[in-house]
Amino acid sequence: MGKNKLKRFAANDINPNVVQEGKAIYTTIKGKWNSDFFTKNQPITLEIGCGNGEYTVGLAQHFGERNFIGCDIKGARIFKGSTEASEKNLQNVGFLRCRVEFILEFFEANEIDQIWITFPDPQLKDNREKHRLTHPRFLDLYKKILKPDGFIHLKTDSRELADFTLETLKTYPHQNLIHTFDLYHSALIAEHQGIQTKYERMFLGLSIEMIVSTELPHLKPLKKA
Ligand SMILES: C[S@@+](CC[C@H](N)C(=O)[O-])C[C@H]1O[C@@H](n2cnc3c(N)ncnc32)[C@H](O)[C@@H]1O
Repeated sequence: MGKNKLKRFAANDINPNVVQEGKAIYTTIKGKWNSDFFTKNQPITLEIGCGNGEYTVGLAQHFGERNFIGCDIKGARIFKGSTEASEKNLQNVGFLRCRVEFILEFFEANEIDQIWITFPDPQLKDNREKHRLTHPRFLDLYKKILKPDGFIHLKTDSRELADFTLETLKTYPHQNLIHTFDLYHSALIAEHQGIQTKYERMFLGLSIEMIVSTELPHLKPLKKA
């Protein structure tokens, strides 16, 4: 492992805004983010596959009345967002290093108010569908931790992933779905809060941008679009 990575992992170990294996809070945080981690009890937004955490940090700066958690499996990426949040002295930001597959170990039912998924890997190879972060197996997990009226936002530049998500939602209970295939020329532009992620910047201009937002209500029937 490179020296830089080791340094970043060491920084995550001591940065109090990072929750990861080896810290006592890692095993006790479930259901207690607002009481044991954040300084203010406020609605929580979770960014899944947050990478460098641009949305987590950017939204936290816009919305001081909300708390934000970036979740990713890669420690070196989390280091970037957590360091920026510390430098900006943002008290409403946390980072969780874990695989999304284990998210129920860290959040209680209804603990999350909103979810953002930004530029997830579209997993285009055969048999990779179940690894897409909008696959029903993940939606089932998100639904468990989201409040009944909680929203999930997807921002992607992959038409395949957007189409897959919209098709998936046809057979999945949801309501108040809105989407655009051309974010930068759409009224939904305000939704993105002017934040661009690393992966967005890498591909901006090469393809159109899409955003899909919907609620995953608990046990509510499907509404016609
Ligand atoms: C293509 S990158 C996008 C990162 C960031 N959202 C952006 O837009 O720049 C996808 C991120 O999702 C994370 N990821 C993918 N699958 C994951 C999983 N099952 N659990 C946790 N993180 C995951 C990866 O580690 C990576 O940082």
